[in-house]
Amino acid sequence: MNSLAIFASGSGSNAEQIVRYFQSDSEVHIVLILSNKADAFVLERARGLSVPSHVFTRHDFYGSPAVLEKLREVGADTLILAGFLWLIPDNILRAYSGRILNIHPALLPDFGGKGMYGHHVHDAVIRDGRKKSGITIHLIDEEYDRGKILFQAECPVLPEDTPDSLAGRIHQLEHLHYPEQIKKFLQSL
Ligand code: GAR
Repeated sequence: MNSLAIFASGSGSNAEQIVRYFQSDSEVHIVLILSNKADAFVLERARGLSVPSHVFTRHDFYGSPAVLEKLREVGADTLILAGFLWLIPDNILRAYSGRILNIHPALLPDFGGKGMYGHHVHDAVIRDGRKKSGITIHLIDEEYDRGKILFQAECPVLPEDTPDSLAGRIHQLEHLHYPEQIKKFLQSL
């Protein structure tokens, strides 16, 4: 049995896909959705999906053990970042070493690093004239977007693409692959 906690800062479409995917899996339980934003749409999704949620502040995360204590209280053994924009602090990295997964909306190591999230990534890919983009699922370590890569999938970048249209194509890839890759990762432990 695995108990997952999902971190998300925004809309939470990936979080929702993950919850739905594991609803029929008796081996994997989503114990909590956490967000650093009290008005993030992911919290509404959590309510609709009947998954407990928790909002935390910058101080809870970086200046106290509050978030780690919450994760321990709910028994989370693996952390899933799904559109979560803050760097994970050392206390949580140490406690969940090798058990924190992230999804990035581009083909790392390109278009990663600080400030590279959401539309900024798609905008940069288009400006750079790339003919393809994709998704990267990777382990998290101390640096943004630098941990071990577990999976990548590609999609074309079309001449008429805007950051929005490319984001839509990337989201489809993410929804298709992230839950399944999480399952594979858990089976590999
Ligand atoms: C996703 O495309 C995810 O890859 C990206 O944010 C989006 C969240 O969408 N993450 C990053 O850019 C992290 N650097 P969602 O809230 O609908 O799941």
